[in-house]
Amino acid sequence: MFFLCHFFVVDKGKEVGNVTLNESFELGCGLVLKNRVLFAPISTLSCLPGGEISEQDLAFYEKRSKGVGAIVLASAYVTQKGKAYEGGIGISHNRHIAGLSKLISKIKKGGSDSKVFIQLYHGGAMTSYNSTIRSSFCVSSESNQLDSTHQYQELTEQMIESIYQDYEEALIRAIRAGFDGVEIHAASNYLPYQFLSPSWNYRTDAYGGCLKKRLKFIEELVLRLNSCINEYATSPFALGIRLSETDSSLEEQEKWKSFQTTLLTVQELNSLPLDYIHMASSDSLEEVEVDGQKYSKASLLNTMSDSIPLITCGGLLCHEDVAKALKTSPLVSACRPFIFLPDWAEKVLVGTEIVFEERQLTGALRQELAIPRALWSSVKESKEWYMYQ
Ligand SMILES: Cc1cc2nc3c(=O)[nH]c(=O)nc-3n(C[C@H](O)[C@H](O)[C@H](O)COP(=O)(O)O)c2cc1C
Repeated sequence: MFFLCHFFVVDKGKEVGNVTLNESFELGCGLVLKNRVLFAPISTLSCLPGGEISEQDLAFYEKRSKGVGAIVLASAYVTQKGKAYEGGIGISHNRHIAGLSKLISKIKKGGSDSKVFIQLYHGGAMTSYNSTIRSSFCVSSESNQLDSTHQYQELTEQMIESIYQDYEEALIRAIRAGFDGVEIHAASNYLPYQFLSPSWNYRTDAYGGCLKKRLKFIEELVLRLNSCINEYATSPFALGIRLSETDSSLEEQEKWKSFQTTLLTVQELNSLPLDYIHMASSDSLEEVEVDGQKYSKASLLNTMSDSIPLITCGGLLCHEDVAKALKTSPLVSACRPFIFLPDWAEKVLVGTEIVFEERQLTGALRQELAIPRALWSSVKESKEWYMYQ
């Protein structure tokens, strides 16, 4: 049995009502999504070595993004120094803009009114694992999450200021490329998460300590990007954030504590100028017991957000799952279902039965589905997980 901590009151079971999947949704900035289903970020590791969009990227996204309310393009590094892995999207230089614009045109070709967002990331200390970057800075050198064979310098206020500027410049590039919004990647152990998580952040200055202080980096970042949007965007432009539901590296009991921290984080973020909070979970409809009653994690998270819409993501496979998630959350997203069913959203919207057939992983199938080579290798290694077998 689990208990929620006493310092927040949960209006358990809050429902948003009987929303139909096809209903449009207006974000706070005024941008209207044509339906409630988004394509969640998926790093396909198929960009050119300099971070430019490749032909493989164009083919993959063109096939998959027409039916969705919005697509959030995978994490794009805001500065070369923050590049945690190779093959990812770059938005760190002006030379990236042309390829990104071309990708947006492909997605919107034929009058598709799916909105296109891009996720902005900075790897922080995770970049020390990228052999071509090997950056040497961290939020806090006391963390045991760091590579013990590597020397790190703790970020100074001056270095933090320069990172904010990297994000701002990346956001301006996103506006110039023609995106409809950006999403701050604050999940998956990247820099904003390194500030947020007590297992990364042991700082004793204004950026470390209680949750409010650990949130300072994210709060300042949101405010700076919001000012930039007000200054540079000429049409409604969304600012969202992605959060991990729990720290998946923790033991079960610890995971529950980290979920409680996420609930409080969602509550704290409510005062910020954000258009949405996008949750990252492996199974968003999983139920937990609170005071003898069962609630899905998605419904508890939604309860904590009064003013900012939440996007529920993780383990939603069919129309029924999506309809269930929409009972407590105004928006949903999915990632893996799109790999083998490029028209998954269209199917879900009309209620077609979803079948993930067992298929032979042949080169012809890869080409038919326009799956980039690096993603294909990963699919081959974990076939059951990707094909829901
Ligand atoms: C190959 C792959 C790459 C991913 N890349 C990203 C990413 O760049 N940014 C991110 O926030 N999530 C990323 N995710 C997580 C997904 O967006 C999503 O949260 C997760 O797959 C759970 O949703 P699903 O059950 O619908 O697949 C990735 C997932 C996969 C399978």
